[in-house]
Amino acid sequence: MPAYYVTTPIYYVNDVPHIGHAYTTLAADTFARFHRMLGEPTRFLTGTDEHGQKIEDVATSLGRTPSEHTDLVAPRFAETWTALGISHDDFIRTTEPRHKDFVAKEMWRRLEANGDLYLAAYEGWYCVGCEAFYTESQLEKQGNDWHCTTHRKAVQWVAKERSWFFRLSKYEQPLLDWIEKNPTCIWPENYRNEVVSFVRSGLRDLSVSRTSFGWGIPVPTQDPEGLKHVMYVWLDALTNYLSALGPLDGELSKTFWGNAVHLIGKDILRFHAVYWPAFLMAAKLPLPRSIVVHGWWAISGAKISKSLPATRIDPLRLAEELAAGSTHGLPLGVDAMRYYLLREVPLGNDGDFTFASLAARYNAELANDLGNLANRSLTLLPKLVGPDVQPARDAALAARDFDASLEAQGAASITEAKQWLLAHQPSRALEAIWRLVREGNRYVDGVQPWRVAKGDDETEKRHVAYLLATTLSVLSELVAPVLPYTSGVMRSWLHGVDGSPPRWPSAFAPARAFLFCAPSPLFPRIDPKRQIEIELAVLPPGAVAVTPVVAPSQVAPSDSLAAQAHDATIAEMKPAITIDDFGKVDLRVGIVVAAASVPKAKKLLQLTVDLGEGKLRTIVSGIAEAFVPEQLVGQRVVVVANLQPATIRGISSEGMILAAGDNRILGLASVPESVAPGASVR
Ligand code: MSP
Repeated sequence: MPAYYVTTPIYYVNDVPHIGHAYTTLAADTFARFHRMLGEPTRFLTGTDEHGQKIEDVATSLGRTPSEHTDLVAPRFAETWTALGISHDDFIRTTEPRHKDFVAKEMWRRLEANGDLYLAAYEGWYCVGCEAFYTESQLEKQGNDWHCTTHRKAVQWVAKERSWFFRLSKYEQPLLDWIEKNPTCIWPENYRNEVVSFVRSGLRDLSVSRTSFGWGIPVPTQDPEGLKHVMYVWLDALTNYLSALGPLDGELSKTFWGNAVHLIGKDILRFHAVYWPAFLMAAKLPLPRSIVVHGWWAISGAKISKSLPATRIDPLRLAEELAAGSTHGLPLGVDAMRYYLLREVPLGNDGDFTFASLAARYNAELANDLGNLANRSLTLLPKLVGPDVQPARDAALAARDFDASLEAQGAASITEAKQWLLAHQPSRALEAIWRLVREGNRYVDGVQPWRVAKGDDETEKRHVAYLLATTLSVLSELVAPVLPYTSGVMRSWLHGVDGSPPRWPSAFAPARAFLFCAPSPLFPRIDPKRQIEIELAVLPPGAVAVTPVVAPSQVAPSDSLAAQAHDATIAEMKPAITIDDFGKVDLRVGIVVAAASVPKAKKLLQLTVDLGEGKLRTIVSGIAEAFVPEQLVGQRVVVVANLQPATIRGISSEGMILAAGDNRILGLASVPESVAPGASVR
């Protein structure tokens, strides 16, 4: 029996969990649940990445020591995964002794023993966001600065620093050989090709220690010059996948290492598909079975990330909102979120998160297709059979068109969904499963079980009950990897509760003897008004990227849904003005360089704004209910620049910021980053 060991990236604790992190974790959870259903020895690891310059910088900026900071934030990840019902077997923190010991005593020593470490000096461009050195050919020039292509921010110049180097260049050919011999070791194929061309373009030795800061695992080898080095954070972090399995000769390591599937976002491909296998080759350890790469989620084109606060949707908040209308509570909301994220975008592609597509899929596929099939079947079943009469298949009736196509679709869905899940393609697996859901509904429409129930053909009643109940029973197992809660509920309605775990069906047949219970509606519909409520509740304040939530045809001009959602009627239009009137207003682009709360004024923020005038302006703005000060620093805003100064709460305010919203501020008028401060807005 092959083992399956799935891992997520360990998340940086400079951020709290958002929907992008949740996506990777939910996908890994889906694969772990699926392999457990196949009866394979399965292990699922996640955790937090807590060392390095980025974490030290964030902690310092918040007035904390790095370890105070990591102890505060790491539990946020662990708690979020627990609340979302993630089935990980282990959660590793890189500050734990079990990890630090393994890295220093096992990993570093092995690289050293292989002759792959040497001391030299390094200088170069460093992106703290990526925690990586870059050559200019890997960066983008913007004005006088070099920018990282992932974080779109200027990189730092690291002045000459003594460092241990890893002989990465030695592994160019071995890496190419490994990729060639293992066609799915990096998957999907476009990412594999990307890695091949990167390796072919030539690998330079890698600096794997730093002396200019201290937050990391100390290098165990003495530097003859007496300098203290900490290990490069990626060497430290990548080793978590091994250190979490304990000693190399222990049971866990022996069972799972070599069967590892690392699920990652495309941002960290190079570290996983080049550095990590090279470290493992140097350490003379087996390589992962597969590196499965997914794309990025964006909100209206902006990647969800720490640097764009408005894009950071809290997964727990979203699940709570999706569960709000249901009697089943949070786990049902979690299932709805899992379904959307895993169905909407084929794993590997980038995706755009929109509330409109979330509601559309939820309504069509969960509420209508699956919810209706479950509900109508479970209502019909007691009418067809009773406590003394069990469903039973009849061979002659099974040959009828509707019956034969339902059974054929059942068998096909079981096989196809399994193939897709083995290939780490949950979206395709769900398509295959939903073909059975739709066939089930077609069967109900075609055979009309309510008419069969009224007749007196007992064989037909038992047969139709058999097919309906078997369809639901098979579906209750097939949906388990993606919809664990829904699966549990369906299984209990069909078979009672016996605590047995779900199993992947081997044929279109009932999982156990039937014991029918009355259903309760599973996925209450999300109407357009509720959709907007969810959006407003879930998007962080100041989100600039609210997606069009209703098709124009759905909005009646006199009763705008948008107006209902904002809890306001549209303000009455002011009298017309001439172009000359408008010309008196001098609107300018400004950059917020500092922001602070105004004591004892809940609605006000004091902003320092650069309008390109050679001096900074102070502007007091009534937007404190929508933004925290940190969110605004660095943002471009539109300023009414020739407004008479006014004293507000003792502060002289020299202008006004344009914001949208009637009773409540919902966003700021914004301009692209390419526009310089001081530019007119006309
Ligand atoms: N600490 C490193 C990983 C070390 S693994 C040995 C790191 N951490 S991270 O917190 O930045 O997390 C990155 C991962 O989070 C991505 O690779 C991806 O799995 C997930 N995502 C973060 N933002 C995401 C999106 N906007 N969309 C999809 N996934 C996202 O990198």
